[in-house]
Amino acid sequence: MPQPETSPDHSGGSDLRALSSEYYVSDEVFEREKDLLFFRTWQYACHSSEVENPGDYVATDILGQNVFVIQDQDGSIRAFRNVCPHRGHKLVEGRGHTTVLVCPYHQWSFSLDGGLRRLRKTPDSQAPAASKVCLIPVRCDVMLGFVFINLDDNAATIADTWPGVEAHILETCPDVMSYKLADGASTVPPADVDCNWKIQVDNYLECQHCRHGHESFADMLDICNQNYSLGENHAYNFIPSAGKAENKAYPLDPEHDVMDLHFWFLFPNIGFGQFSGPGNLSLFQWLPVHTGRGIRVNASLEPAEPTDPGMKERQHKRTRWGEEILQPEDLAFMRSVQEGMHQHSFDRGWYIVDHENQEFSEAMIRHFHQLYRAQMEESGI
Ligand code: FES
Ligand SMILES: [Fe+2]
Repeated sequence: MPQPETSPDHSGGSDLRALSSEYYVSDEVFEREKDLLFFRTWQYACHSSEVENPGDYVATDILGQNVFVIQDQDGSIRAFRNVCPHRGHKLVEGRGHTTVLVCPYHQWSFSLDGGLRRLRKTPDSQAPAASKVCLIPVRCDVMLGFVFINLDDNAATIADTWPGVEAHILETCPDVMSYKLADGASTVPPADVDCNWKIQVDNYLECQHCRHGHESFADMLDICNQNYSLGENHAYNFIPSAGKAENKAYPLDPEHDVMDLHFWFLFPNIGFGQFSGPGNLSLFQWLPVHTGRGIRVNASLEPAEPTDPGMKERQHKRTRWGEEILQPEDLAFMRSVQEGMHQHSFDRGWYIVDHENQEFSEAMIRHFHQLYRAQMEESGI
């Protein structure tokens, strides 16, 4: 993995100033983010096990742009805009299975590769030739079994966008390809979070608040000895275990469990985490709903078979701790920060960047903001 920047800027100059609060409260910025960020980057759609057989499909959307993912007869996973070329009706809803895609409105039908099969016309009509009508394909790529889509036809592949990440996750979590999706589906409904999506991302990219803000988390992990690295369009955070089977968060079984924490941030809004406890890999996607509100999508993988008789119970305790302790602690911080962004007296924050003291360093947030600024082609806001 790439190493942290070697020459941090301690000058107190603009390198240490965070994004302006405008970025967190402006509807105009949100509209630009749609066009310049979310419609041009890889976004999670579903897990490949949800489209396991030819004809299986999952409908989704990226900020209102409807897409569906489907397995073709030849076994390939494809994605298309979920809009009928006839008059614009949605082709499929939710999840399901079909051998032919039939539009509910006027019954035009399409094969699984997007080609037109049939439209209603008489021989003398002026209907278009079948060769002129087809579904519009969407870029689709699979990483570690997770299916991503990209509305930008010219986007680089996932391997080129987030170089080295897939290999690093496989190295860290070698059994991941044998894992299955917990509960058989990406977590629904996603969690509602009443703050700008970047506040969620910022919160995951520093652990300066962990020692006092997450007492149980800080008891389970050796947060003083954590480290990070910054890479091309991504960052990685490692927090070693404190080595306590009994701790203030949830019980661990050192013989069967993962003890350390690994977290990968993939620009702009995807996270992969392997957390202390029974084997796991979780995907997070922080998506805006509008400027001041977002959701957190979560898809978690777990071992296909229990590794030991107590695994399910430990998984359950970890999940409850996340829902009842950790997430509410973070939510309170994030809500308050969102309020702070609206204060006339607050212009922009600071980054504390110190590679010698990585528990307190906010280099990953700065990295995120630098990538964000570059993608948004900052125009003086
Ligand atoms: S809108 Fe789909 S067949 Fe008419
Ligand atoms: Fe936190």
